[in-house]
Amino acid sequence: MAMRRLRLALYIFAGFWFGGLAALALFPAARERLLTSVNVRSMGKALVGGAFTLTDQTGKRVTDRDFRGKFLLVYFGFTNCPDVCPTALQVMAAALDKLGANAERITPVLITVDPEHDTPALLASYVASFHPRFVGLTGSPAEIDAVTKAYRVYVKKVPDPKSTAGYTMDHSSIIYVVGPDGAYRTHFTHATSPDAMADRLAGMLQKPST
Ligand code: NI
Repeated sequence: MAMRRLRLALYIFAGFWFGGLAALALFPAARERLLTSVNVRSMGKALVGGAFTLTDQTGKRVTDRDFRGKFLLVYFGFTNCPDVCPTALQVMAAALDKLGANAERITPVLITVDPEHDTPALLASYVASFHPRFVGLTGSPAEIDAVTKAYRVYVKKVPDPKSTAGYTMDHSSIIYVVGPDGAYRTHFTHATSPDAMADRLAGMLQKPST
């Protein structure tokens, strides 16, 4: 009886798995969305985030400790991303605008998943186009590899003849909230509305423990 139930569970699991693989292969446009849901499901609260050492958009070396005392809205993307990254960054900026003066307790951060292309100077002009306080972080490929692993971000460089660069970066699309203590709190996606994001953030800002 237990065996039969286990086998049924395995079949269902395999069905989802192959369905997901087929969708990935057949519908490139659906990739970021699907990868987002995969990532969210596998995420445990204590298993996301952690220490990092990177370079900011001014060329300064920074670590996660330099951001303590503020909430962080952290997104992983790249400056050449055609649509999903700009959407996510716009939502983050719009949510901060809705929070008014309270928004100053939150620092929006873009960590590039394309460190070989995204220099501090490129990130500086890119993030400034979304919000004046946006921080852009890059680093060596090894440093970016470490931080994407810590945040369980899926990243894969894939050939793309439509792009002038000849490649694109497939990546999961999650907006992480990190508390003033440096610990992961919750996450959103690029599909979260600015209103919903602002409401959740306002609730977190009100808690005395934060
Ligand atoms: Ni993107």
